[in-house]
Amino acid sequence: MEEQDIMKILLIGSGGREHALAWKMTQSPLCDELIVAPGNAGIAQIARCIKIAVEDSQAITDLAVSEKIDFCIVGPETPLVLGLADQLRTHNIPVFGPSMKAAQLEGSKGFMKDLCRKYNIPTAAYERFTDKDSANKFIDRLGAPIVIKADGLAAGKGVIVAQTIEQAKEAVADMLSGNAFGHAGSSIVIEEFLDGEEISYFAICDGENLLPLASAQDHKRVGDGDTGPNTGGMGAYSPARLITPAMEQEILEKILTPTVSAMKSEGCPFTGVFFAGIMVVNGKPILMEYNVRFGDPECQTLMMRLKSDLVDMLYAAATGKLQTIHPEWSDNPSLCVVMAAKGYPATYIKNTPIKNLDAAGAAKNVEIFHAGTAQKDGQTISIGGRVLGITATGQDVATARTNAYAAVDLIDWPEGFCRRDIAWRALSSSAAE
Ligand code: AMP
Ligand code: GLY
Repeated sequence: MEEQDIMKILLIGSGGREHALAWKMTQSPLCDELIVAPGNAGIAQIARCIKIAVEDSQAITDLAVSEKIDFCIVGPETPLVLGLADQLRTHNIPVFGPSMKAAQLEGSKGFMKDLCRKYNIPTAAYERFTDKDSANKFIDRLGAPIVIKADGLAAGKGVIVAQTIEQAKEAVADMLSGNAFGHAGSSIVIEEFLDGEEISYFAICDGENLLPLASAQDHKRVGDGDTGPNTGGMGAYSPARLITPAMEQEILEKILTPTVSAMKSEGCPFTGVFFAGIMVVNGKPILMEYNVRFGDPECQTLMMRLKSDLVDMLYAAATGKLQTIHPEWSDNPSLCVVMAAKGYPATYIKNTPIKNLDAAGAAKNVEIFHAGTAQKDGQTISIGGRVLGITATGQDVATARTNAYAAVDLIDWPEGFCRRDIAWRALSSSAAE
């Protein structure tokens, strides 16, 4: 775009991911004004926040029209699956985010698996079911461990990795009866268990052109050493230790490039970010899932490493000009430690004060991204499960980790906790080398 084209931008979402995107976008000379709906206490320090639920497509569209928004970025998956991008595009507002149909890549596990089968994209062997008896027969045939997935969105909880045939059948019964995930579970995917190491890989697309971004590794379990229940992600670092130029090449050639053409062939070209959840099994990348948004907390680590203009890049993706973009990345790794409210991911306390955030975030290589925070009586308080993402860079992963935990230790929040071992895989492998 022309240099003089400064924009009024609308960002949808309220998590740490959106704070990281907002932080990076407000550094762009192309960003005249940033509005975030609904935002959080951290975002409110750098942008104008407007309280609208992310699911309320009509209210968001009305806001975009009345504020004469030039460009909209959609952070979370739910509004995309509900068709927000389509609605905004009918008003000729450029949007970074896929159409409702293209968002099925995340919104329907069955859609994603069928696409992989049809276009020969490596993924775990699977079948789809709506009927319990045939599902149980398939489980008997495949054996355990085995993975049961609700077809629709289930707030990140719709996947059961069953260790026994009995557990698998129980999960099937729970999902198909509608007890577990309501309508999202009325159709299921049952698939082969992949035994390997997970990585997240990100690339953006303008419908036609693919721009590889970077990799990260998340930590989904709540406890140190990957123990306890699954969460939305307790920390991440970038790049992931298993990413070599050859591995990246293989992910692009076998998974992402075929997906771009598959989506075109299916009549739903993809605009936005591909977040490929990949299992590396015996050195080979296998696609486990697609998300159609940035990962949280992976996004925080990517934004800390991106040297180029984010607005320029996302706008090029939204307007079919991605071939003009060649982003630069810092060679220094980054690492994000999530602080959550005690009790998360089960019931947790809310409305507790968090102190000393300014001092903790003062170091040059540290940013504190807010997720579930609000401002009350001049204080920052917690209002969600995952509350802060303390993100740091360093000359190597160990230094990034030291920098991040030094900031964590300055935060005065007795009701919060975090994992102390983010990036343990990367650090134990370098120690072994
Ligand atoms: P998803 O929501 O598809 O990312 O699944 C959530 C988590 O379940 C993933 O991050 C994996 O840890 C696990 N998972 C999903 N599919 C498989 C699979 N086929 N084999 C092993 N683990 C899986
Ligand atoms: N961190 C995993 C996710 O955003 O789904």
